[in-house]
Amino acid sequence: MSAESTPLQSSAVINEAVQTLRDGGLVAFPTETVYGLGADAKNPKAIQKIFTAKGRPSSHPLIIHLAAPDIFDQAQIDWVMLLAPWVRDLSEEALKLINTFWPGPLTLVFQKDKSVLNELTGGQDTVAIRAPAHPIAQELLRKFKGGVVAPSANRFGKVSPTSAADVRSEFEGMLDLMVLEGGDCEVGIESTIIDMSSGDKAVLLRPGVITPSEIFAKTGVKVYSPREIKDDPVSTKAAEGLPRVSGSLKAHYAPTTPLRLYAPGRVLDALSEFPDIKSRVAVAVWDSESSLVLEDHPSTDVEEVIVSSDSATFASKLYRSLRDLDRQGWDLILFPEPPAGEEWDGVRDRLQRACFGSGPSSSSHDIN
Ligand code: TXA
Ligand code: MG
Repeated sequence: MSAESTPLQSSAVINEAVQTLRDGGLVAFPTETVYGLGADAKNPKAIQKIFTAKGRPSSHPLIIHLAAPDIFDQAQIDWVMLLAPWVRDLSEEALKLINTFWPGPLTLVFQKDKSVLNELTGGQDTVAIRAPAHPIAQELLRKFKGGVVAPSANRFGKVSPTSAADVRSEFEGMLDLMVLEGGDCEVGIESTIIDMSSGDKAVLLRPGVITPSEIFAKTGVKVYSPREIKDDPVSTKAAEGLPRVSGSLKAHYAPTTPLRLYAPGRVLDALSEFPDIKSRVAVAVWDSESSLVLEDHPSTDVEEVIVSSDSATFASKLYRSLRDLDRQGWDLILFPEPPAGEEWDGVRDRLQRACFGSGPSSSSHDIN
């Protein structure tokens, strides 16, 4: 957590959260990526509450969160035994990924065990699982001793929360929700999702801070993009069978203020396409760039916001900035296009979707 000053939750509060989950209630909790809205993965009524609270279509599957046992030597963790109740088969390659990246911001999709509730998989025969690294998530999961389904704790299509206060403001007046406090999320964008369910090829479903190159370098496992799979005639079957990912909708993670990206050095062009003289525009500018002489643009009230040119730092602050800017009443928010390079894929993906869905009438966009 970056908010060292934030007091972590006491054991008593976590015990109360465990009881709430056992009673079929919802608990929002911190993970290293974003805050999750948790429910007992074995309780269909509790799962239904998540879909209702988020306004999420029931066909959009949820991720099951599991505890990593409290063992110092990671190599000793018996993931095969921990996953056995949830998944039908565990390939050598999947195990390599698990041993290298769990607990951490990586979600894997497997063929599901028949006992896994259809309510959480959206009726699919696969299941997404991750073991989050955040100590509060781990303590909650360990004490609960079961799987916890947790989508990001935001209303459907909106920006994911990266602090407990964000979660509260998402559901204010709608839901009396227990929110565990865990400071600001370190990673800041949702986990990387890799589909291992074909038993053949690992396929990237959602980019995140763990990239295919890092996976290859650390495990030797090649991760394919859905595009590569489609181009390969032998694997078209796998591509056709690719599961739905709600984050794959064009509009997602979206603020209410219109958000646009500008090409390198083209901020003035972007502004001139927005000619309303009364407009107030927030322009995000790389920390590595010298002053952009925004005063040259006479007609708009423009304010610069500095953003990091380091991809991990940018990711950790992205949703925080979008939420804060959204609250400040700008008419337009401009962000620089992220540079080429795999380490920017997660950020680029979130920013593009946020642009597409942004604006007060975002509900009129095609988000289903
Ligand atoms: O970092 C994260 O993954 C956060 C934290 C809270 O863990 N969770 C998260 O959950 O982002 P959510 O529900 O906002 O996004 C889960 C994504 C969705 O895009 C969903 O479609 C996909 O995971 N997913 C879930 N089960 C799947 C499956 N069986 N096959 C393919 N995609 C699946
Ligand atoms: Mg989400």
